[in-house]
Amino acid sequence: MPELLTGDVAANQNVSANMKRSKFYVCPICGNVIHAMGEGAFSCCGLRLPPLEEEVPDGEHRITVETVEDEMFVSLNHPMEKGHFISFIAYVSDNGLQMEKLYPEQAAELRFRRMGPGKLFVCCNRHGLFRQTV
Ligand SMILES: [Fe+2]
Repeated sequence: MPELLTGDVAANQNVSANMKRSKFYVCPICGNVIHAMGEGAFSCCGLRLPPLEEEVPDGEHRITVETVEDEMFVSLNHPMEKGHFISFIAYVSDNGLQMEKLYPEQAAELRFRRMGPGKLFVCCNRHGLFRQTV
């Protein structure tokens, strides 16, 4: 209903949802994270959430990936302080999603079970979403 009122209706060209079109939405008030297999109209805390823009990893958001047997070890040399930290990392393949929440004071690293080719999404609470193909 809110999207009808604004006249800003999200209509996807892909009628069958597709992981390759994954979008992430983050509520700036409560930090809620929503994953969708395409653009949609999502609201949280009374705000309409735009999909996060995906940037190419730069400087402190550079992502290091090492494959160890059937796992992928992902790490970043990024601050993990209260006001500036990596808030989640997600690994999206053609048919799966693994996502882990990270917290300040924790290391910006984790392991995912390999699911084949896909994309890594890293979200910095200050600088937004970064995407890398794996
Ligand atoms: Fe950052």
